[in-house]
Amino acid sequence: MSEILLEVKGLKKHFPIKSGLLRRTVGQVKAVDGVSFTLNEGETLGIVGESGCGKSTMGRMVMRVLEPTEGTILLYGQDITRMSPGGLRKLRKDFQMIFQDPYSSLNQRMLIRDLIAEPFRIHGQLSSADIDKEVIRLLETVGLRATDLFRHPHEFSGGQRQRIAIARALSLNPKLIVADEAVSALDVSIQSQILNLMVDLKRQYHLSYIFISHNLAVVKHISDRVGVMYLGHMVEIGLKKSLFHKPLHPYTEALLSAAPEPKRNSTRERIILQGDVPSPANPPHGCPFHTRCPKAFDRCSKERPILKEVLPDHQVACFLYE
Ligand SMILES: Nc1ncnc2c1ncn2[C@@H]1O[C@H](COP(=O)(O)OP(=O)(O)O)[C@@H](O)[C@H]1O
Ligand SMILES: [Mg+2]
Repeated sequence: MSEILLEVKGLKKHFPIKSGLLRRTVGQVKAVDGVSFTLNEGETLGIVGESGCGKSTMGRMVMRVLEPTEGTILLYGQDITRMSPGGLRKLRKDFQMIFQDPYSSLNQRMLIRDLIAEPFRIHGQLSSADIDKEVIRLLETVGLRATDLFRHPHEFSGGQRQRIAIARALSLNPKLIVADEAVSALDVSIQSQILNLMVDLKRQYHLSYIFISHNLAVVKHISDRVGVMYLGHMVEIGLKKSLFHKPLHPYTEALLSAAPEPKRNSTRERIILQGDVPSPANPPHGCPFHTRCPKAFDRCSKERPILKEVLPDHQVACFLYE
């Protein structure tokens, strides 16, 4: 058994909706509404769900760049939910984030060398000569070259820019990388190159990932376990093999049936979901999915199901399994 790196319990983020001259709070956007999961050391947890389900908000809370409304985040058993700025600064080394668009997350006027060295200058105690050596080593680790040191981000392709963002994230030897739609803007062939690089780096650096994507194929490629989010809730979570082989939640079934299957002889029937994701400012009572669920029954509109283990390391929040 590997050690538990991260434990998230009952995490919520409610954004206030303000209105009128007095900017009174007239409601709450329940972007994340009670999410719990654990992440083992060296593991990749994929998070899927349609746009607006709260994936990014959850990732930003785990990174501690967004204050949770409720809930706790434990790192190696230590509560990091409410921490002093000093404590947080130390923690920043352990957590890094990679975003969809490295074009906007990388300062365009900086040289690659300074972009990758920046975290060292903020946190480290390396001399200038050592920093250059380290930056070159990192560039080579992510498949770039020493000659790239004195170029600017705009001189690189999208895939190469994502490599730069990864080098920067790696610079302080993090324990956890949260990748939020990290390959979503790239061509499919480039996507798999970056995913393969991330898999290699995980082994080499003993990293753990939370890999957020609306794209099931991408999550399937890289994850050990997968969590499915819907309207601020984790509706299903489990070992990748189990979840893809035997999806339990009707929402997961619908997502899987809509994803293009490489195997032509797939027997999976396509389920078309009706309507859009309801507004998280006014979520339905009961099960968050019941308004679109083809299998919903009476109870689903009245009570909210909680996650229960139905198969080994595979939990679902659905009354069909009670
Ligand atoms: N700063 C914010 N203020 C108000 N609402 C927000 C804010 N950030 C996100 N939201 C809302 O929270 C919900 C979840 O958003 P997000 O976490 O970005 O979902 P996802 O990443 O799954 O697409 C959305 O309805 C979004 O509009
Ligand atoms: Mg997002």
